Amino acid sequence: MGGKSTSGYDLEDVDGIGPKTAQMLQSRGIISARHLALFTPEELVDITDMTPDRAEKILRNARELVFGQKRILKGSELVKTMQDMPRLTTGVKSIDKLLGGGLEPKATYEFAGEFGTGKTQLCHQLAVTVQLPRDKGGVAGACAYIDTEEAFSPSRIEAIAKRFGLDPQQVLDNIYVMKVVNAADLEDRIKFDIVKLVEQCNVKLIIIDSIIALYRAEFKGRERLAERQQRLNYILDWLMRIAKVYNIYIVMTNQVLDVPLGYIEVKRPAGGNVLAHAVTHRLFLKKSRDDVRVMEVLDSPRLPHKATATFRITDKGVEDT
Ligand SMILES: Nc1ncnc2c1ncn2[C@@H]1O[C@H](COP(=O)(O)OP(=O)(O)OP(=O)(O)O)[C@@H](O)[C@H]1O
Ligand SMILES: [Mg+2]
Repeated sequence: MGGKSTSGYDLEDVDGIGPKTAQMLQSRGIISARHLALFTPEELVDITDMTPDRAEKILRNARELVFGQKRILKGSELVKTMQDMPRLTTGVKSIDKLLGGGLEPKATYEFAGEFGTGKTQLCHQLAVTVQLPRDKGGVAGACAYIDTEEAFSPSRIEAIAKRFGLDPQQVLDNIYVMKVVNAADLEDRIKFDIVKLVEQCNVKLIIIDSIIALYRAEFKGRERLAERQQRLNYILDWLMRIAKVYNIYIVMTNQVLDVPLGYIEVKRPAGGNVLAHAVTHRLFLKKSRDDVRVMEVLDSPRLPHKATATFRITDKGVEDT
């Protein structure tokens, strides 16, 4: 079956998977043992004609093969592996400082804010900084950019690339822009295409700009709220699986809602409890005086609540004030 995949293990390396099963799984879009290990038995039964028992057995073997003995770590070993994982610079010193040195892998970041607060600009900048070499704060990786709002701008990427001393054409070549039409499409892109890009095209950063737009448009009204939240939860769970298993960075943007609070209205990120619980680091972007923008920590297991950073948007991207 065409040699070893870059993730280390082919489907046929899994106990219980022969050439025929491997071929069948590949025809369903599963490309490696690691990719397979992301699935649940129910999901596998859904896309194949396997029995639940067989699906469960194969998945257990896949996890055993891919994750092996390394699943239980001592605290001291955990500290070591965390130190090995580089932070990804945002290209803005004050934001990097706020985030504890830049973005951490195996986590999800949410930028929420009103229109024009810089969510998309920051995403563009990260699509460039991820390509910087390690000694410049990047990880020499590529970017998968899921654009649900038709907001991706090659000319902005070119301007930002020049600022960081990178070749604009090369930088654009390393950004895989995906358009999605609805929630089911987004689920397919993430479960299959994105994993392929991560395994085969050195993608280290996944951006979703924005996560909520599709769901708000598709599941309209109170009657469909539960369904919407369930689907949203599902996709966020998949993003987290990918982040953890492939050790990569995930960023998404979110819109805000006006929520009445007594006599006043406050702005809250959309997506309700589902998004609040599923995202690791919630950051709120807002406009301040003149052209200054503020990023504030809304919720995070590690970052100080309500701590802020300031930045501004210029023709060269996002910069310190
Ligand atoms: N070339 C540029 N030079 C200076 N500022 C720019 C430039 N391009 C965009 N901006 C600024 O960026 C702002 C838009 O930011 P951005 O697109 O990131 O907003 P957003 O938070 O994604 O909003 P939305 O919710 O509408 O998607 C504009 O209002 C403008 O102030
Ligand atoms: Mg935007």
